[in-house]
Amino acid sequence: MPNHQVLGETILNGNSTNRPQSPRSPGGRWKYLRAFFILLSASAVVCGLFGAWIAVHGISARDQPTAAEELMALTLRHLAIPRDHRNMKNPIPLSPAILAEGRMHWADHCASCHGNDGRGQTDIGRNLYPKAPDMTSGRTQNLSDGELLAIIKNGIRLTGMPAWGDPSSQGDSQNWKLIHFIRHLPSTTQEELDQMKAMNPVSPMEHMEEQEQDAFLSGSDAPVTPPSTIHQHHPPTKKENP
Ligand code: HEC
Repeated sequence: MPNHQVLGETILNGNSTNRPQSPRSPGGRWKYLRAFFILLSASAVVCGLFGAWIAVHGISARDQPTAAEELMALTLRHLAIPRDHRNMKNPIPLSPAILAEGRMHWADHCASCHGNDGRGQTDIGRNLYPKAPDMTSGRTQNLSDGELLAIIKNGIRLTGMPAWGDPSSQGDSQNWKLIHFIRHLPSTTQEELDQMKAMNPVSPMEHMEEQEQDAFLSGSDAPVTPPSTIHQHHPPTKKENP
């Protein structure tokens, strides 16, 4: 039943406090315009503060991200990985052979940033922004298997971490083996680290320097191999991945 009194007032006065304001009415339009200007001023303030911060601190990758930045990035990353993905468990049973495969793969593809020991203390790893983290610490070890897979497979946007392997689930087996090795990182032995050194990719210049050093130490003055004829010292069985 319509309220006749209110309806009458509305018709007579052409106005009512109860009447909903449509965006088309002058009052409604003003409300939207005001909200728009408030948002615009807020974004101008945020941009101004950000600009001032950049002007003071610069954009050098050498800086250490602040704790607040790190917390925000890690929380967003956690939320960006769907729950069913996070709950995945490593389907490949752990064995010494699987662990050795993961370790060699790590030495070949991941150690340039993360280091053979996973602590991120390499020329690249410590000079990225954000830095390659210490993966023996709780920050990495407390991630679930599924989270580790999502990170390795998709990479992390706006960081130095690339996406690895085939995007379909068929390509996951190499990554699951890597995850076994990531879990093993806190207890790597010196012997394992020495074996990994032989698998680390070496640039032609580094290779020449190594040869020069060896020649110097052995007292030989044999000429070193020019870079064009050098092959990286990967074993012939190495599979090119990911
Ligand atoms: C070019 C440098 C680079 C290479 C190569 C690289 N990573 Fe990363 N990785 C990073 C950086 C930088 C981060 C930190 C990103 C961040 O703070 O969000 C990272 C983060 C990660 C993380 C998340 C750890 C954590 O605690 O946040 C995992 C897992 C990871 N990398 C695995 C790998 C694996 C496995 C490989 C090799 C297949 C690899 N990465 C190769 C640079 C690299």
